Amino acid sequence: MESTDKRKKIEVCFSPYLFPLFKDEFDIVVVIDVLRATSAICAAFDNGVKELIPVTSIEEAIEYKSKGYLVGAERQGKIVDGFDFGNSPYSYRKPELKGETVVLSTTNGTKTINIAKEAGQVVIGALVNLDVLCEWLIEQDKNVLCLCSGWQNKFNLEDTICAGGILDQLLATGNYRSEEDSSIAAKYLFLSAKDNILGYLKASSHRRRLKNLNLNEDIKYCLTANTCPVIPVLKGDKISLDA
Ligand code: MLT
Repeated sequence: MESTDKRKKIEVCFSPYLFPLFKDEFDIVVVIDVLRATSAICAAFDNGVKELIPVTSIEEAIEYKSKGYLVGAERQGKIVDGFDFGNSPYSYRKPELKGETVVLSTTNGTKTINIAKEAGQVVIGALVNLDVLCEWLIEQDKNVLCLCSGWQNKFNLEDTICAGGILDQLLATGNYRSEEDSSIAAKYLFLSAKDNILGYLKASSHRRRLKNLNLNEDIKYCLTANTCPVIPVLKGDKISLDA
């Protein structure tokens, strides 16, 4: 019998590795990489960057660089030698980037964006654009998957907490339903972390990794909610602001 439940679905997938188990059922995929790729992308668009091309491999990034593009590349939290910048949100807030097209390759985030694009409309999610993103998703009225980039296919806390925050706002409308245990877990993690996300993530693996690289300011930037009210969406191979 056909279901009479007309509510849209929202679920959370913990890692790109699990994505094949979810991908056929959703219209919109929110790609989340709080530390730091999707936060840096939001920072770039909030600063007036025109387009951002997310590439998976360093080889592709080198090719764009040889054609004269501005290219950021990060691996293991560090700037890859020979590139203009890495993945710090502060690199994308420089006034000279306004109106420019930028290319970015990161360890997990840009790879996840390129994996997600086969499944539906991709939108960029982070804590820095949490509330406007939720408003936008509610307006779309479609089935939503929050896809956490994780770390090298493993679960991570910060992306899951952000996904739980999105789920919490969408479920509160009464127009969405969620069934997976991953979604319930994400929501409870968000609810227990939301009053002090920075403190909650103190022992998390990527926060430690970035702290060891003296990237505390980046961590604070990425874990502060609602500083970049932008909706970056993937159109073809390029990210730009939703018109
Ligand atoms: C990634 O894409 O893996 C991350 O953004 C790593 C980082 O913090 O630079």
